[in-house]
Order: sequence, then structure tokens, then C-alpha cells
Amino acid sequence: MAKLPIITAPDPRLKKKAAPVGAVDAEVRQLMDDMLETMYAAPGIGLAATQVGVMKRVLVVDLSREDEERQPLRMADPELLWVSDEDASYEEGCLSLPEHYADVVRPAAIRVGYLDQDGERRELEADGLLATCIQHEIDHLDGILFVDHVSALKRNMILRKLLKAKKSAALPPYSESATAA
Ligand code: NI
Repeated sequence: MAKLPIITAPDPRLKKKAAPVGAVDAEVRQLMDDMLETMYAAPGIGLAATQVGVMKRVLVVDLSREDEERQPLRMADPELLWVSDEDASYEEGCLSLPEHYADVVRPAAIRVGYLDQDGERRELEADGLLATCIQHEIDHLDGILFVDHVSALKRNMILRKLLKAKKSAALPPYSESATAA
């Protein structure tokens, strides 16, 4: 397994729609495993392939706590088959928008169809945090970030701060050029 670099916003790759894989082969399985390793190391509870620059409809989720046995979910070509009329609000975060959080309203319960790591077609019903997390990750595969669900004011504030953080991280270290003059 290998840890992959996580793309942070703003970045045009996070706005792209990922393509279906159609079938789960060794390459997709490897991607799922690498994404899980990346997610556990971050640490996070979900990760979509677009966040590591792979434009394939693949996501991983694990809501187990640190003191529990891991319960990884690997999904290829996930599709929402049903969503509840009832909504729920959760404070969401994202590995691609580090250190920023916002309340997001989504359907409270879902049924998702997907291919598992063995290429078997499966369906899963979820509510609570799992429903939120799966919807958040499927959004990533459609180029949608959680900030796209909040007010423009809040979204722009978060994206401006992320851009600023990125720019200051990209500045050359205070060294030769500054002192050699
Ligand atoms: Ni995310």
C-alpha cells in the first residue's frame, strides 16, 4: 500500500467529475487500499479518489473509532438509489479543506448501490453520520465540496483563507534572495 498526496482547495481538480470504473480490477482494488491508508494516516473518516487526483468514481469510508476494530467500506461507482425526505444537519469537515468546518443539511437517510472490492454489486442503507459521509464523498466524485452547500459568504470566506494559507506555504523560505542583496 502507498500513501497518496491529498489535494487541498482551491484546486481545479476538485471541481471535476470523476468517471465510472465499470468493473473492479486489480488497479481499482489497489487504489481503494492506497486511499484507505491515506485516509487513516490523515486521519479522516472518508476519502474520494478525486481528492488524490484520480478521476475515478471510487470512495472509501471508515467511521470506526480509534479504539475499535477498523470497518472499512470500499465503493466503486456508488449511486444514491433513494434519499429520505427528512433532512439532517451535521458539522462537516474535509481533508481537502483542512481546519474548516460548516453545518451542512442533507437527506438524513440514504440507500446507496455500489461495487465492492470484489466487484460484487451491493446495496447499503445508511443514516446518521454514515449517510452524511457517503453523500459527502459522492459529492466529491461530482466535483462538489461541502462548502458548495453553504452560503456564498461562508464559502468565500473559507476558500479565501485556504488560498492565503496555500500562498504563504508556497513562498520561498526567508533565505539567500532576501539576505544576499
Ligand atoms: Ni471531503
